[in-house]
Amino acid sequence: MKNIENIKTVVFPVAGLGSRFLPATKSVAKELFPILNIPLIEYAVDEAKKSGIEKFIFVISREKLQVARHFETNSKLERELKSKNKKFLEVITKNRIPKNNIFKVFQERPLGLGHAIWCARKYIDGPFAVVLPDDLVFSKTPCIQQLVDIYKKHKTSVIGIQEVSMDRVNQYGIIKTDNQKTNDIMTIQDIVEKPSIKRAPSNLAIIGRYVLSYNIIEELSKKQTGVGGEIQLTDALKNSINTSRVLGYKFEGKRFDCGNVMGAIEAQVFAALKEDLYKKDMTKILQKFLKKDY
Ligand code: UTP
Repeated sequence: MKNIENIKTVVFPVAGLGSRFLPATKSVAKELFPILNIPLIEYAVDEAKKSGIEKFIFVISREKLQVARHFETNSKLERELKSKNKKFLEVITKNRIPKNNIFKVFQERPLGLGHAIWCARKYIDGPFAVVLPDDLVFSKTPCIQQLVDIYKKHKTSVIGIQEVSMDRVNQYGIIKTDNQKTNDIMTIQDIVEKPSIKRAPSNLAIIGRYVLSYNIIEELSKKQTGVGGEIQLTDALKNSINTSRVLGYKFEGKRFDCGNVMGAIEAQVFAALKEDLYKKDMTKILQKFLKKDY
């Protein structure tokens, strides 16, 4: 195992069922759903690229091969665009990842996020990043870069954290901390997966951005099942707290849970309002709707 300080590897676990988005996800992976004209997975890859990542591991199911293919060369489409519409040629070529930098791993059954990451182990040889593409983050500094910076400084696992309203704590892994180093960095003392309001130790929720030390792979190898009979990443993190420090980091940025319908709609509107090309039209549409003029 390499003891590198620079984080060059990212894991995208994208083998989940996406049940909250059925029936759409029966035939289309939710990671390919677009926010404006860009699929979620492309935002995630872009964030990782801008954060200095060079090795991209996709954990997929047999039905979701298309998610990784999105970054490969599409010769037929390129030929067509070359003769018909060069403007769009650049759009589809600039998102490519060099062949040697893409790694695909199959998770044969959706046994949980922890299991998905464990499936990627043969390509992991040191600390690594994990990005869940359905958590879309718009930020000044790419979200995973923010976590990489904290990792480099403290040399221990860092998890992306955000405050959520108490009526939502049952949808997240919630952390316990009374050791807030700064306003943004905290030592995690415990993690409770999807607690009731009563059992929640705080309203600080784990979001889909992680930079993890290699020891988490060893923890995941124990294949302990947790909530929902799944192998949860949060359980492995919780166990690793006994032997090494795990930090929570309240990152800067606006995050949307695009794994559920309303979260994805909110992200669409936000993205349109912040993009010059769509801003004016989006504002007009919203004003019209608010006046019930439809
Ligand atoms: P989610 O909790 O969003 O689960 O997983 P899901 O299956 O994608 O969606 P729902 O809850 O059924 O609607 C968080 C991330 O972990 C991946 C998912 O693809 C998603 O990116 N995941 C989850 C796996 O890769 N494998 C699993 O077994 C579970």
